[in-house]
Amino acid sequence: MSNKQFDVVVIGGGPGGYVAAIRAAQLGFNTACIDEWKNEKGGPAPGGTCTNVGCIPSKALLQSSEHYEHAREHFAEHGISTGEVKMDVAKMLGRKDQVVKQNNDGILYLFKKNKVSFFHGRGSFVAASDGGYELKAGDESITAKHVIVATGSNARQLPGAPFDEEQILSNDGALRIPTVPKKLGVIGSGVIGLELGSVWRRLGSEVVVLEAMPSFLPTVDEAVAKEAAKLFKKQGLTIELGVKISEVKKDKKGVSVSYTDAKGAEQKLEVDRLIVSIGRTANTIGLNPEAVGLALDERGAIVVDHDCKTNLPNVWAVGDVVRGPMLAHKAEEEGVAVAERIAGQHGHVDFDIIPSVIYTHPEIAQVGKTEQQLKADGRAYKSGQFPFLANGRARALGDTSGFVKFLADATTDEILGVHIIGPFASELISEAVVAMAFKASAEDIARICHAHPSLSESTKEAALAVDKRTLNF
Ligand code: FAD
Ligand code: NAI
Repeated sequence: MSNKQFDVVVIGGGPGGYVAAIRAAQLGFNTACIDEWKNEKGGPAPGGTCTNVGCIPSKALLQSSEHYEHAREHFAEHGISTGEVKMDVAKMLGRKDQVVKQNNDGILYLFKKNKVSFFHGRGSFVAASDGGYELKAGDESITAKHVIVATGSNARQLPGAPFDEEQILSNDGALRIPTVPKKLGVIGSGVIGLELGSVWRRLGSEVVVLEAMPSFLPTVDEAVAKEAAKLFKKQGLTIELGVKISEVKKDKKGVSVSYTDAKGAEQKLEVDRLIVSIGRTANTIGLNPEAVGLALDERGAIVVDHDCKTNLPNVWAVGDVVRGPMLAHKAEEEGVAVAERIAGQHGHVDFDIIPSVIYTHPEIAQVGKTEQQLKADGRAYKSGQFPFLANGRARALGDTSGFVKFLADATTDEILGVHIIGPFASELISEAVVAMAFKASAEDIARICHAHPSLSESTKEAALAVDKRTLNF
């Protein structure tokens, strides 16, 4: 048993935690990170939900399934004939696992490079001690002057339908289905439902999504949500809104979901497997917050202020375990800001300009306010929209669905929101985030030279559209 002393100990090695640990070490603190995630051999697999069962594996499968669909349906347009296109699901999943492993290894390398001590095991509070905290790190006892909790989140279960990861799947099981299900049910048409529903639809499943809300993607700009609904329907994704799930039953044949539809009629959906993606809940399992009196809210999230300070001195919390959007880049920004605050610097996160992306095809990306939010706020605004159909690069790519939409203040022209549905929206949105961080106006973007031919010319054109002077539409 050791009793190592650290300036900063981070509990959780996901994007919030591992980045916080690296930044703290860069700032000269003697830093440790504790993470309990195990790979299939029982070894360490830092990177959290994001790396192991979230952002990274989902994007690997989205890429593979997109290649497959492309080869089957679009190569011929380019004059490429391939013969029958076949798919090897085991190989696809194996490639995804390799991508995950590269990221796990990358984080372990970064810990070494930055001299962060890594403990593989569970981290928990033992007691407050003079000028710090006693902690357990796996089997070891350690002390910390500052603790950053970054213990992430878990998938929410549907009452009466616990995850077995064989038939009733969380994101974890949904990323390793061994054969393409003939019929796949998805509960929840949020980000996971749409991304993972798209993966398995592209690979050949008939996918039916059941959503409780009466409107589709209510947090996305209405024009974008409408376009997305139209495109997903065309792709063959069935999305039923306004449903109320009453019962989920499983047997050897599959899973049956009983529900009331939007018109009040009783319905039953029979599927081979069911993904339940109805949101996530903050995770403090095993952290032992009671030992030190760390305050949680009624949903189990750690209570923090704007600066990620908890109710305890020198205990901070970041990422999915606290309020705010459950996004990897939000967790990372908070982690960096906290490390800088511990160092007496002015770490800063601008919660108004955190971008969000749904990696469907086409991708959906947004930053700032939606049109419906501006209306609700009573803010006077102008809007401009430009379709990818009128963009040369999009035509060359053969990827012309969607548009870029700008919302700007009616008087000052300051950009208030940018909404993109279309090719590489995830990359295009960064220009809007930078512009908004510098309080740019739509005219600022309209006056900047954008490379030709590029998708980003649509961003410039949408900014021009705010002043009703597009050049190519
Ligand atoms: P986590 O990543 O959950 O990490 C927490 C870590 O702490 C885990 O490794 C856990 O094992 C460890 N831990 C917990 N308790 C303890 C303990 N007591 N002791 C030791 N270790 C502990 N976000 C995006 O921005 N972009 C995306 O494309 C995206 N795709 C996603 C796809 C899916 C399928 C899912 C499920 C999520 C996705 N997310 C995405 C969300 C993203 O994964 C999370 O927002 C992000 O991982 C949160 O980071 P975190 O560091 O707060 O927590
Ligand atoms: P979500 O919050 O995005 O969507 C959940 C959906 O389920 C909502 O539309 C909700 O109305 C619906 N729902 C809730 N209860 C229901 C019920 N009983 N019956 C039917 N529908 C119900 O949550 P999701 O998709 O589980 O993802 C969790 C989090 O992971 C997201 O909040 C997101 O932050 C993160 N994530 C981010 C991604 C990205 O950035 N690209 C990708 C995947 C996940």
